[in-house]
Amino acid sequence: MHDFMEDELNRPSVIKNEYYLSIDYVPDNLPHRDKELRTLAQGFKVLINSPGKTSLKYIIEGPVGTGKTAVAKLFADKIISSANLRGINLHQIHINCRINKSPYLIYLKILRKFRPNFPRRGHSPEEVLQMIIEILDQNDLYLLLILDELDYFIKQKGADILYDLTRLMDDRLNEPQRISIIGIGRRIRLDESVFDLSTLSTLQQNIIRFDKYTVQELYDILKYRVQLAFEEDVVMDETLQVICDIASERGDARYAIELLWRAGKQADALNSKKVIPDYARRAKSDTHPELRREIFSALPFHNQLLLIAAARILKESCSAYATIGEVEDMYHSVCEEYNEEPRAHTQIWEWVQDLSAHGIISSKRSGQGQRGQTTLIGISDVPADLLEQFLLSFIENR
Ligand SMILES: Nc1ncnc2c1ncn2[C@@H]1O[C@H](COP(=O)(O)OP(=O)(O)OP(=O)(O)O)[C@@H](O)[C@H]1O
Ligand SMILES: [Mg+2]
Repeated sequence: MHDFMEDELNRPSVIKNEYYLSIDYVPDNLPHRDKELRTLAQGFKVLINSPGKTSLKYIIEGPVGTGKTAVAKLFADKIISSANLRGINLHQIHINCRINKSPYLIYLKILRKFRPNFPRRGHSPEEVLQMIIEILDQNDLYLLLILDELDYFIKQKGADILYDLTRLMDDRLNEPQRISIIGIGRRIRLDESVFDLSTLSTLQQNIIRFDKYTVQELYDILKYRVQLAFEEDVVMDETLQVICDIASERGDARYAIELLWRAGKQADALNSKKVIPDYARRAKSDTHPELRREIFSALPFHNQLLLIAAARILKESCSAYATIGEVEDMYHSVCEEYNEEPRAHTQIWEWVQDLSAHGIISSKRSGQGQRGQTTLIGISDVPADLLEQFLLSFIENR
């Protein structure tokens, strides 16, 4: 009998180490982000030179896949090791606000860094925060808090962690300032109704904007990954150029790396020893960078149902936009399918604003004379039936 497992294991691959193409890998070298890393280093130097003197708040803002998370993680590692070298007890914690959706969950996550078994229930957010401060004070610790995907959070009414933490620091005027923050997001609304003017102006001065990567920048990023992840001389230069051209429209390094990975897989599947440009083109037709599992899977169930409704309407009507009324009707029938009580119109309207702020759908006001004034809903470039299937797959695995 043929051993298929051994066959597979012995099969030659153009990929030497797939890990370097995975999303878990944080490179220790980030081409074309020197300036941003330097700005952070200059800004945060005071935490090491005069610990406790001040609490810093920086914001990193920029489009998808521009290295915001990677830069923040690399920077945090560097500052922690410099601090530790000098006997300063600086710790960092990276929290994804898309996953930890409330101040309470965020504080709990911080507290558990120091008290791993702290129970989930039984305390208010303020109490948990107070405990964190006590631990930091008692042990002379400092904390660099990285709040990633903060824009998922800031829009939720009343839940404004930046504000809470800022106020807390301000109240401790004569005591050491223990917590500094880097907030990260595509676009962070700094609302005057939430922040007082002085906090707002400090925050505005400390915004670091990341631009989309250019073709050349993407090329340099990929070149380095190719060295790490692929066998020598298997990836053709033309292939990299095709990938960079495709990905440069969005300036998105994540998408470029995914295309590279898929092109490599394609070569293996076809037993090819070279990764030729055509594999990159095929990879493009297989991927929709808009459909990111982690984004959709974290959406509340009813948001997923609403998106299914929108996808169905758009599929059936073959038009670019549907009215919010049509989507809502379809949402009711989708709810029925899943035995769910539909939510009220105002709630749906809010979700639409939210989903569109996150670029998951697009919404606009209809023009004059077009069935009166209403909100029109569209989905990004993804084909409607693909989006529907994609969402159904989450719901089934729920
Ligand atoms: N300058 C760079 N050099 C090497 N790899 C990079 C660079 N910038 C980004 N990457 C890689 O591209 C991918 C996306 O980067 P990252 O996750 O930092 O993007 P992001 O700006 O946080 O995106 P999002 O807004 O979706 O969270 C990661 O795998 C990261 O390692
Ligand atoms: Mg990120």
